[in-house]
Amino acid sequence: MKRIAVLTSGGDSPGMNPAIRSITRTGLNMGLEIFGIRNGYQGLLDEEIVPLDFHAVSGRIRDAGTFLQTSRCLEFTKEEGQKKALRMLEKYRIDGLIVIGGDGSLNGARALHRYGLPVIGLPGTIDNDLFGTDMGIGVDTALNTIISLVDMIRATAASHRRCFVVEVMGRGSGYLALMTTISTGSQVAVIPEYRMNLEKIIEVLDRRFTNNHNASVIIVAEGVCQGAEFMQRLIELGKVRQEIRLTVLGHVQRGGTPTHYDRLLASRMGEMAVLALISGERGCMVATVNGKMQLRDLDDILERRKALPADAIRLARNIGIEIGDVVER
Ligand code: ADP
Ligand code: F6P
Ligand code: MG
Repeated sequence: MKRIAVLTSGGDSPGMNPAIRSITRTGLNMGLEIFGIRNGYQGLLDEEIVPLDFHAVSGRIRDAGTFLQTSRCLEFTKEEGQKKALRMLEKYRIDGLIVIGGDGSLNGARALHRYGLPVIGLPGTIDNDLFGTDMGIGVDTALNTIISLVDMIRATAASHRRCFVVEVMGRGSGYLALMTTISTGSQVAVIPEYRMNLEKIIEVLDRRFTNNHNASVIIVAEGVCQGAEFMQRLIELGKVRQEIRLTVLGHVQRGGTPTHYDRLLASRMGEMAVLALISGERGCMVATVNGKMQLRDLDDILERRKALPADAIRLARNIGIEIGDVVER
């Protein structure tokens, strides 16, 4: 293992930069040459490959996003694209690749691993939808960004006796929605893992309004439907006694300055990825399980669906949050 390359792929997440920094500095410290691939798999196909030295990553621990840039690349999902990517890596005599991204990106990493390239993945997604790791890089920052925004919305909700519907990201996962409903003191989480019960939601709003708790916040995960669609359904029932407003948080959720947790997680995972490649590990994702770093086989994790933490579901119910009904699977 002499030359290692790193790329970021899929949606950017806060902490990707600290991960690249840690990979670069650990690799250099181990006597390796480090290359950055710009613009994800697309950049690999376009030969956007640059050497990284100690100074190239200076200051990056504080920045959200990914200075290597990222993309979604259709060509790479096909066999031809993957073979072209391998030829490019061969041209630069790259011995090992570290991919930072979500489930899609790690599927791409596994495809390259199956062709025999030593690959290690890092979970880089705010969605926290990757099985096998308690947290992904960027999740904590996104949670903190969401709660500070919802706290601000609550001021207007209280002043105007309104109900706010807040749409948050998460792709097919309700993780961000559930956790931030708990930590903002909101009343309802509408999440894809549970079937929403509109009648119960109306009851919650009605009970609060009757008791002069007339500000309510409903967090809707984008994986259920658009916040606008949910709000329309609520209004159409004709039973809500207060004004309802919608806020779609959108991409600000990905742009927060990485928190301490994410800077440390990304640094630890980046270091471990390099050490893993050097010691001959392949086809794995670096994970954090109960606070400890672990390597998990990509084959084990990519076929499985991550469940919401059972203790968070229980907590939400015990403190009176309406999360809907269990869906039979
Ligand atoms: P994320 O990594 O955040 O989940 P995407 O699902 O958009 O984001 O995936 C990012 C990129 O990873 C895709 O644009 C594609 O280039 C690559 N990718 C996704 N799925 C696969 C797959 N099954 N096989 C190979 N490459 C894939
Ligand atoms: O996967 C991360 C994520 O932010 C999802 O939560 C969201 O659905 C998606 O990416 C948005 O993607 P884009 O930046 O392409 O709009
Ligand atoms: Mg994804």
